[in-house]
Amino acid sequence: MTLTEMDATAEQYRDFAARQARGASPLYEQLTLGVAADGELLDLLTALPPAKRQPNLLLAATRYLTGTASGYDDFRRSVLDNRDAVVATMLARYTQTNEPGRCAALYPLLASLPQPVALLEVGASAGLCLYPDRYAYDYDGRAAGAVDSPLRLSCRTEGSPPPHLAEPGPVTVAWRAGIDLNPLDVRNADDVRWLRTLVWPEQDERLRRLDTAIALAQADPPHLLRGDLNARLGELAAQAPAHATLVVFHTAVLCYVPDEERAAFVDQVGRLDCRWISQEGPEFFPGIAARLRRQPPADTITYVLAQDGRPLAFSAMHGGWIQWLP
Ligand SMILES: C[S@@+](CC[C@H](N)C(=O)[O-])C[C@H]1O[C@@H](n2cnc3c(N)ncnc32)[C@H](O)[C@@H]1O
Repeated sequence: MTLTEMDATAEQYRDFAARQARGASPLYEQLTLGVAADGELLDLLTALPPAKRQPNLLLAATRYLTGTASGYDDFRRSVLDNRDAVVATMLARYTQTNEPGRCAALYPLLASLPQPVALLEVGASAGLCLYPDRYAYDYDGRAAGAVDSPLRLSCRTEGSPPPHLAEPGPVTVAWRAGIDLNPLDVRNADDVRWLRTLVWPEQDERLRRLDTAIALAQADPPHLLRGDLNARLGELAAQAPAHATLVVFHTAVLCYVPDEERAAFVDQVGRLDCRWISQEGPEFFPGIAARLRRQPPADTITYVLAQDGRPLAFSAMHGGWIQWLP
C-alpha cells in the first residue's frame, strides 16, 4: 500500500466525521477521527479493496461483532483483538442502510403522478422504501399519507414546492418490487440484526422507525430480485401492470455504481415508459447538478431530489428535511 492510499483513507474518515457523524452521532464522530489518526487501523483498512474501506462498514462490522464501543480505546481494542472476524465481516457484508425516512421526500412526487403507481426501486436493500403509501407524514404540521399508520415520518420543509407538490394527496400502489445486489430479508433475524446495526448509536428515533417499518414489511414482504440494477431492470419493469404509472426510483444507491454503469442506467431508464425519481448526491448525476441554480450545503451530505432529471429539492441523508428549490 502507498502513503497516498493511507492518506486518502484517513481523509475519508475525517470527511465522514465532519459531514456525516457531527451532530448525528458523537460516538461515531469520535471513532472516525480516531481511525483517521491511527496508523495501525489505517494500515488494516488500506489492505482491503477500496469499496470495503468505508467508515460505515468498519463501524457496523465491529459493532455487530463486539457491541457498541464506549470510546476510541475500546473500539480500537475490539478491532485489533478481533481483526480476522472484523475483516471477514467487512468483506462479506455491504453498507445497506435502509432508511424509510427517505420516503418523506419521495411522497409528494409520487402523489403528483397519475394513480395508481407501480413502484420499482433499484438498490432496495430490504425494500423498506417500497411502502411510501403505508407511512404517515407530517410536513411542518400538515398531515399526508396513511394517517393511521404506526410509522409517522416528520419532515421539516423550507422554500415553496411547485404548486402540484404542495398538498400531496393519496398514493395508490398497484405493484411494488425492487432489485438489489444482495436483498435483505425482513423475515431473516440475521438480516434484521445487520439492518439495525447500520443505524448509528444515539439515533434511537431512527431505530424505532426502522423497527416499525420492518414490522409493516414483515406482514407483506416485498418482491425483491437479486442482481445488478442494470442487468435486471428491463426484466422487472416488464412485470409491472400496464394500467399503472411505472415509477423507477432510487435513493442513496448510485454512489456505489461506477460512472459508466451509472450512465448506462440513466440511458436504460430513458428508454423505458416510466417516470424516474432519484434521491442521490449531486456529484453522481452531473446532468442533474448542472441544472441546479444554487449549490447544496457543503458541510453535510445532502441529496438532490429529482424527477425525470429535473432537480426539485435538496433532502437530508436520512430523511427529516426537504429544501424546495426555487
Ligand atoms: C445505502 S443502501 C440504500 C437502500 C435504500 N435505497 C434506502 O435508501 O434506504 C444501497 C443499496 O444499493 C445496493 N446496490 C449497490 N449497488 C448496486 C447495484 N449495482 N445493483 C443493485 N443494487 C445495488 C446495495 O446492495 C444496498 O442495498
